[in-house]
Amino acid sequence: MKVSRITLSDRASTGIYADLSGPEIERVFSEAWGSPLEFEAHLLPDDRHTIAATMIAVCEKGECPLIITTGGTGPSARDVTPEATLDVLQKELPGFGEAMRMISFPKVPTAILSRATAGVRGQTLIVNLPGNPKAIGECLPPLIPAIREALKHLAGG
Ligand code: MTE
Repeated sequence: MKVSRITLSDRASTGIYADLSGPEIERVFSEAWGSPLEFEAHLLPDDRHTIAATMIAVCEKGECPLIITTGGTGPSARDVTPEATLDVLQKELPGFGEAMRMISFPKVPTAILSRATAGVRGQTLIVNLPGNPKAIGECLPPLIPAIREALKHLAGG
């Protein structure tokens, strides 16, 4: 399966610091998934239109049934990933964000600052993750069964 991973960060996209979160998605997801994966990597600034346009292009190309984003889910002015995601979703799956916040909150009280969501555009599942690399290791593995099931449904199974 081919997965599109999109890092949203003004600073990483202009080279002020390295994108650690995108590679962390590859590491954590590959370990948890159990069958071979190919990744397509995007690193974008926190710009709502650019994010939405990139997601639409990935969906229209039809090569990746899954898009995982990282970053831009918080309360700051430049955090617009959930808005861009909702711009492109045809169906929201709010349980993904609810589960991430529920799982992380007892360990990390600031987890509720993430507005991450998920949903479906066409046959593509889009899942937001927070930007902290540590958050990826905490949030992504528990979502795997639901991601697997959603992909089956979207493939017509
Ligand atoms: N979730 C987990 N598991 N671990 C974390 O360290 N950081 C929180 C939250 N979710 C965090 C987390 C913080 S401090 C913020 S501001 C939000 O995610 C949003 O982060 P983002 O804007 O980088 O997506």
